[in-house]
Amino acid sequence: MKILILHGPNLNLLGTREPEVYGTMTLDDINTKLVELGKELGMEITCLHSNHEGALIDALQDARTWANGVVFNPGGYTHTSIALRDAISAIQIPVIEVHLSNVYAREEFRHVSMISAVCRGKIVGLGWRSYTLGLQALAELLTDKAAGK
Ligand code: DQA
Repeated sequence: MKILILHGPNLNLLGTREPEVYGTMTLDDINTKLVELGKELGMEITCLHSNHEGALIDALQDARTWANGVVFNPGGYTHTSIALRDAISAIQIPVIEVHLSNVYAREEFRHVSMISAVCRGKIVGLGWRSYTLGLQALAELLTDKAAGK
């Protein structure tokens, strides 16, 4: 199984960016954890980051040619991007939306997600564990699907 971990804008600054909100782990730390977990789950993990909406759309479109699923934190584009929502709708693979912070305990504009309705599921507020739990859920869903469950 091949999985794309996709990180959106400003997540490259994790570790120094508002650590009281996002924690102290860097993006590399999180990616390392995900690759390790992927090995345990028998999954091949590819991690990508971009600050650019178009590059994220390109990555999603490309994923449909090689990936079985995507764990996606779209950062601030979560709340604004119809184009990302359309990209997720267009590809035929499950996408799990993840957020480090509890967006529902923050500003009202963060309560709205343009992409949730077209994602397979969503995990928020658990710091880096939102990613690992998202990956675990995706592994189980894909295993069930492969077994015809
Ligand atoms: C975020 C939440 C977003 O509202 C914010 O713009 C981010 C990070 C999170 O992981 O908590 O950049 O997606």
